[in-house]
Amino acid sequence: MQTETKDHWEKIYETKVETEFSWFQEYPQTSIDFINLFNLSKDAKIIDIGGGDSHLVDALIELGYTNIYVLDISAKAIQRAKDRLGHHAQRVNWIVADITEFTPDVSFDFWHDRAAFHFLTTEEQISRYLTTVSKAIQPSGYLVLGTFSENGPKKCSGLEIKQYSAASMSHLFEQDFKRVKCIEENHATPFNTLQNFVFCSFQKRDKPL
Ligand SMILES: C[S@@+](CC[C@H](N)C(=O)[O-])C[C@H]1O[C@@H](n2cnc3c(N)ncnc32)[C@H](O)[C@@H]1O
Repeated sequence: MQTETKDHWEKIYETKVETEFSWFQEYPQTSIDFINLFNLSKDAKIIDIGGGDSHLVDALIELGYTNIYVLDISAKAIQRAKDRLGHHAQRVNWIVADITEFTPDVSFDFWHDRAAFHFLTTEEQISRYLTTVSKAIQPSGYLVLGTFSENGPKKCSGLEIKQYSAASMSHLFEQDFKRVKCIEENHATPFNTLQNFVFCSFQKRDKPL
């Protein structure tokens, strides 16, 4: 695990409350809209990558999903999400791991990543993510990625990020995934600023291109 990256995130989650995070959302409406597009069964295996202490897991539980996984590099972030959920936390599979070193032992029907993938800035990190996501999603399963767009910020949480457009994101994943839908949206931060995101959804091909 990259110690520097982990230390950065542990410190963030030890020292700030959620409304001090630019990425904070009371309700992750865009992510839920994508999930609703795909008519997943309630027992679909769903993973949120770099979930942090996002409220997506709360929304998924509320919608009745029963096979939820949340992965984050920060143990503190995961602990915060568990504390918020109280006894509901037992219904979730929690994973503390660096996504570039994650080797899942289950196949997922739905993989969600909002504002985690864009922190991978080297070719090696991106290529590891691609290999993992391609192995981890079932044929016909879905992937939803949200990153800062080319009109968005160049940094997040003080770290350099990689911006994407719908075209560059689709190109990166096209060998194993066909594009379903891409949108751009402005996220309103708790400090009344706007961050332009691009979200794309993809479906895993039965065979690589
Ligand atoms: C900007 S926050 C977004 C949190 C959440 N997805 C949301 O939308 O509210 C980025 C998250 O990615 C996690 N993260 C960053 N690099 C990671 C990595 N290499 N592996 C796993 N998680 C990572 C951080 O700990 C943090 O929780």
